[in-house]
Amino acid sequence: MPNHLVIVANRLPVDRITEEDGSTSWRRSPGGLVSAIEPVMRANDGVWMGWPGGTDQDLEPFEDDGLQLVPMTMTQEQIEGHYEGFSNATLWPLYHDLVAKPEFHREWWDEYVKVNRRFAERAAELAAKGATVWVHDYQLQLVPQYLRELRPDLRIGFYLHIPFPPAELFQQLPWRRQLLEGLLGADLVGFQLPGAAQNFVRLVRQRVGHKTHRDLVYLPDGRTVRAAAFPISIDAAGFEELARSEAVVERAKAIREALGNPRKIFLGIDRLDYTKGIYARLRAFGELIRDGHVDVEDAVFVQVAVPSREQVEQYKLLRDEIDRLVGRLNGDLGRIGRPAISYLHTSYPREEMAALYRAADIMVVTPYRDGMNLVCKEYVACRVDEDGALVLSEFAGAADELRQAWLINPYDINGMKAALLEAHRAEPKELTRRMRAMRKTVTQHDVKAWAASFMTELDDIGSHRKMVRPATRS
Ligand code: G6P
Repeated sequence: MPNHLVIVANRLPVDRITEEDGSTSWRRSPGGLVSAIEPVMRANDGVWMGWPGGTDQDLEPFEDDGLQLVPMTMTQEQIEGHYEGFSNATLWPLYHDLVAKPEFHREWWDEYVKVNRRFAERAAELAAKGATVWVHDYQLQLVPQYLRELRPDLRIGFYLHIPFPPAELFQQLPWRRQLLEGLLGADLVGFQLPGAAQNFVRLVRQRVGHKTHRDLVYLPDGRTVRAAAFPISIDAAGFEELARSEAVVERAKAIREALGNPRKIFLGIDRLDYTKGIYARLRAFGELIRDGHVDVEDAVFVQVAVPSREQVEQYKLLRDEIDRLVGRLNGDLGRIGRPAISYLHTSYPREEMAALYRAADIMVVTPYRDGMNLVCKEYVACRVDEDGALVLSEFAGAADELRQAWLINPYDINGMKAALLEAHRAEPKELTRRMRAMRKTVTQHDVKAWAASFMTELDDIGSHRKMVRPATRS
């Protein structure tokens, strides 16, 4: 069947589950991206291609709950070079302000090129004449160019979910020009924030030498590429509904009880990633207890760290550091039945996350750099009683929108301590004032609005076939 919309992402929106009896099945992963794109996919005979994780070979395209999915296999060599190497040990730290030192290896680059080429070739096979292809994220920045070479008839969009660094950092990359040219294969290049789009346009002018004007790049072949910001969001209504459900309300109560009904619960939920500032935030909390501002008898910090990229060296080191810190803080500051930190190295389904959000009084989100950060938006969506405090890093994309949070600089431990304390002591009226405003923002700019604005913008570019717009509820 010809596909009029092809979504190209490093990962499929489903995880492969191995049951106890050894059989395998698929489970929809919790991300909001797929629910936002799903209606457009259905209306346009859409297909989603991506890696299902692991090294399974010969997985056939399949349908999951009405979604057409095309698994892309990876060899061990490709996982090491493309995914763990170039994507997550070169680009990830470089694009996140060098929070860790990026490694540059030519063999990793070679695998990155090969995988990007294979993804482009498969997308070229799947796409109908004049179709729209939407490519996602830093693992696939060369796909737009390769795809355009193979299929000039397509309309191609690219969206970067993570930050795009300033020229001063980006130009360290030995393959800087190739990456810029890769992205320029798209008609529309989307970023989280306007600053990132400006970084990109400036680099294109300086390093590739194309003419630019504001958010437009003029290519010698007459094509125009637009670079603009489309801040991503969450399925706000979905989270809110979940948070109001009886099961989640009950579970939130049970969580508080299991923690010994403390007066205040601080909460962090992150992938276990060095960009997230988990270490600094736990240290700050520990110091507040040590200094006598917070008492372990009536406050606890629940930190959920979702296992991530466990084969990458920096992630292994981070896990050991956090394990050590949590052990030390609990050993030094905890009392019997009252740990300072309740640390969980695991991932939870959406229901449990919603219950944690409902149970927590102070949500602590302190990344050194983050494209957007959806956890803080999920917290806001789940606070249906318009209470709860958000302490948020200025360096998360979400800080541009959630101005009523307690905004902090995660490098400034004293500043962070002061904000945690203020949020801890804030009056209910103050909490409501802030939360009400943030809830309005998150509800109005949800992930459906995000997907629709990117698609509309892409649709308006050029004289291609127009997408079928699914009926939307307002
Ligand atoms: C970030 C990236 C995504 C990535 C996700 C999980 O949100 O922007 O592209 O899929 O992290 O990381 P993983 O390496 O497990 O895919």
